[in-house]
Amino acid sequence: MESHHKVREKFSSGLAVFFATLGSAVGLGNIWKFPYLTGENGGGAFLFVYLICVFFIGLPVMIAEFYVGRKARQNAVGAFDKLAPGSPWKVIGFMGVLASYLIMFFYSCVAGWVYAYIFKALRGDFTAITTEGVQSIFGQAVVSPLPPLVWQWIVLAVVAIILICGVQKGIERITKTLLPVLFLLIIICDIRSLTLSGAREGLDFLFRVDFSKITPPVILTALGLAFFKLSLGMGCMITYASYFTENNNMIANSARVALSDTIVSLLAGIAIFPAVFSFGMQPGAGPGLLFMTIPMVFSQLPFGNILLTAFFILSSIAATTAMLSLVEVPVVYWSEQRGLSRTKSVILNTIIIAAFGVLATLSADKTSLLGNIQIFGKGFFDLFDYISSNILLPVGGLLIVMFVGYVVKQDDYIRELTNHGTLNNKPLIQSLIFVTKYITPILLVLVFLNSVGLIKLN
Ligand code: TRP
Repeated sequence: MESHHKVREKFSSGLAVFFATLGSAVGLGNIWKFPYLTGENGGGAFLFVYLICVFFIGLPVMIAEFYVGRKARQNAVGAFDKLAPGSPWKVIGFMGVLASYLIMFFYSCVAGWVYAYIFKALRGDFTAITTEGVQSIFGQAVVSPLPPLVWQWIVLAVVAIILICGVQKGIERITKTLLPVLFLLIIICDIRSLTLSGAREGLDFLFRVDFSKITPPVILTALGLAFFKLSLGMGCMITYASYFTENNNMIANSARVALSDTIVSLLAGIAIFPAVFSFGMQPGAGPGLLFMTIPMVFSQLPFGNILLTAFFILSSIAATTAMLSLVEVPVVYWSEQRGLSRTKSVILNTIIIAAFGVLATLSADKTSLLGNIQIFGKGFFDLFDYISSNILLPVGGLLIVMFVGYVVKQDDYIRELTNHGTLNNKPLIQSLIFVTKYITPILLVLVFLNSVGLIKLN
């Protein structure tokens, strides 16, 4: 490499590797997607299916990404260039950079609403609130053009500042300090929720085992969720793994991250549903649950505003650590492939996301300023979500496992995953390779065909 390339940064320890990776996985998905999907689709039975999906799709893809990243020690595009010089495989990296932008356009918008709600909760805006009251606050925060844009820019500025501080002083320090805080806050909300009179019903909704709900489309929902939850298919894990320590046990790390992430999702569900059922509300998904039902329910409790503030702080932490990994992908791409300094790259990418993010934020609701513009029958917000989650991520994941399963030399894969023979996990790796070559790709093809509507399972 030319002399202007500084020594590449690394995480300082195995613990730092764990927290950074977990920080990427834990995000808004844990709070507004996972608990609801679990409750709605068969509770304990869905959880069982989800864990199988994590096992057969999530972990093989994650480990494949770890391998590519740590072996090449490059950004998502450069990594494929280095491992398969001159081949078209680096298209995976370009798709990843594109997916990272598309996800950030709408993710930073939702994160902006979450940040804004911390201050609303703190000010006591939700005290003794009615249904009309929460609706009007939500409308103000989401539909009126300026406040959500300003909050989105604040979110992007926070992410930019952390990223400019670097891998160790930024990503590592923030994830190591904030994830334990998130954990503590979620436990506090859990204790409060579990001591309510209707706790039983909420737990029933989340955990009741109902295998009759497990149909093929539900299985595919679980597959898609496992993918989004674990930040797979777009080079986030490749990029983070390029900073991993040489002696990290990547298989163990992937299992720990998947398990901890699932625990955080369940703890979020335990905080949410007992409270919702105690007040005779209907559990719903997405924005309604997070920004209307929860404020209404929590604010009726003693110390409700404090609890609500805690809840939105923990949601902001989750969203922010996930965004660090999303934005890091284009940041290192622009700095390593295009020669920008890290700071310039962060600024450039923040501007790109802020500029196109306007389209998502102003189309988040039907009544928003750009809410009635339709492309392929979807508004901008939904379009960005659809192209990234339903197309780019599963295709990216499929190509990554194909690359590792069929292009990479098996001996080299084994050498990397055993840390050059120092780990005693060869039989495990042999089974992993089998799953990576023959099972994961087939399942991913099914997910993809279903999500774009080419096959219809039911
Ligand atoms: N996993 C995060 C969540 O659950 C979101 C996320 C971060 C993500 N990086 C990603 C999703 C990469 C897909 C791909 O909210």
